[in-house]
Amino acid sequence: MSSHATATARPRRFVATGPLIGRIRVPGDKSISHRSIMLGALAVGTTRVTGLLEGEDVLATAAAMRAMGATIERHDSGEWAIEGVGVGGLLQPAGALDMGNSGTSTRLLMGLVASHPITACFTGDASLSKRPMGRVIEPLSQVGAQFTAYPGGRLPLIVTGAAVPVPISYRLPVASAQVKSAVLLAGLNTPGTTTVIEPVPTRDHSERMLRGFGADLSVEIDTDGARVIRLNGRAELRPQVIEVPGDPSSAAFFVVAALLVPGSDLVVENVGLNPTRAALFDVLRLMGGQIVELNRREVGGEPVADLHVRHSALTGIEVDPAVVPSMVDEFPVLFVAAALASGRTVTRGLEELRVKESDRISAMRAALELAGARVTETEDGLIIDGTCGDLLRGANNAPVTTHLDHRIAMSMAVAGLASRGGVEVDDTRPIATSFPVFETLLEQLGAIAGPNA
Ligand code: S3P
Repeated sequence: MSSHATATARPRRFVATGPLIGRIRVPGDKSISHRSIMLGALAVGTTRVTGLLEGEDVLATAAAMRAMGATIERHDSGEWAIEGVGVGGLLQPAGALDMGNSGTSTRLLMGLVASHPITACFTGDASLSKRPMGRVIEPLSQVGAQFTAYPGGRLPLIVTGAAVPVPISYRLPVASAQVKSAVLLAGLNTPGTTTVIEPVPTRDHSERMLRGFGADLSVEIDTDGARVIRLNGRAELRPQVIEVPGDPSSAAFFVVAALLVPGSDLVVENVGLNPTRAALFDVLRLMGGQIVELNRREVGGEPVADLHVRHSALTGIEVDPAVVPSMVDEFPVLFVAAALASGRTVTRGLEELRVKESDRISAMRAALELAGARVTETEDGLIIDGTCGDLLRGANNAPVTTHLDHRIAMSMAVAGLASRGGVEVDDTRPIATSFPVFETLLEQLGAIAGPNA
């Protein structure tokens, strides 16, 4: 089921064939898609979702929720219908749950299982099997769940949920929406008040959606500025009608490509601009990027706009580490933008990037160097000296390595568009985890030649 089920890597060379001109729409937000399936699967009645991201990560979540009793169907119209089992109603899955490449599916589902009296075995691909799960095992053990994991707290991993779950109060030691959400989801089937204290705010889709489904959740800011999220468990969830906005993390690749490729003039429609997600666009504007928001509105309880982007001369910047959680997935593509800026870009506070689908600091350093960029790796970031707008040389003789990481593949595809010689990406299969139509959209815009050209 994962992208890596296909035995052989799918390499592809990316080189610009022209500016990006026109209007596109990117698929639905991955974080919101996961959550709409999970909460729909716990509500009593039928939740209807439009704009769901049909990427492999989200399909892994859907398969797991089906294996635990929910009925989930895609209609020909593209709408998804999810019939839930009710809070507390998850069933023992018959086999292992294959999470493919998806850390979000794994960590959030571990939270759900932790407060149900069932046992589940989580498996994943080579990338996911290297990622740390201790960060969720720790709080979920306090809830009463039991874990048997591979050494180092890795997958494969077996969770037996607590028959009598205990409400906990947990202060997040890392700024992680996945850990926050795992604890809150465990709290849904736990009597009493589960509390998560978040010193640094992270994406708040779980809180927004839990409220939308009727969970008893409140958020308060305490005296030292931390967010205190309280959830009273065992409330019944009401089914919802959800429209998923476009994913800002997917839009990011097209926004940066349009800024970098001369002559580009692109509108990316329907982009989710939740403030806990959208910092990349602010940083790019500070660098001189022409990105104008049109038609600001609300979709599915989230702020949304169309982004009008024009080719721009960019200037290097020191990125404020305080914005890292609000653009944590966008650094790989920001590094590409920095590689063409004039002057130096300094990023710090990115240690979490080392435990994503790959070590994104070292993977991007190596890939950008191959493409001709000037990059220095530090413990917690990259320092990049840009080309002052010149195209990169390109990486024609050796493919860049993506390490089963969709965002490295797409970022280096953008670097290819912004290069003279093109960039060969060693494996494009992981792109299907989050953005299956990425290459098709580039082809439709005429920014790359079709595979048969
Ligand atoms: C996500 C949270 C982030 C992000 C991931 C999706 C989510 O991870 O990197 O792609 O949907 O909650 P962390 O919360 O671990 O930083």
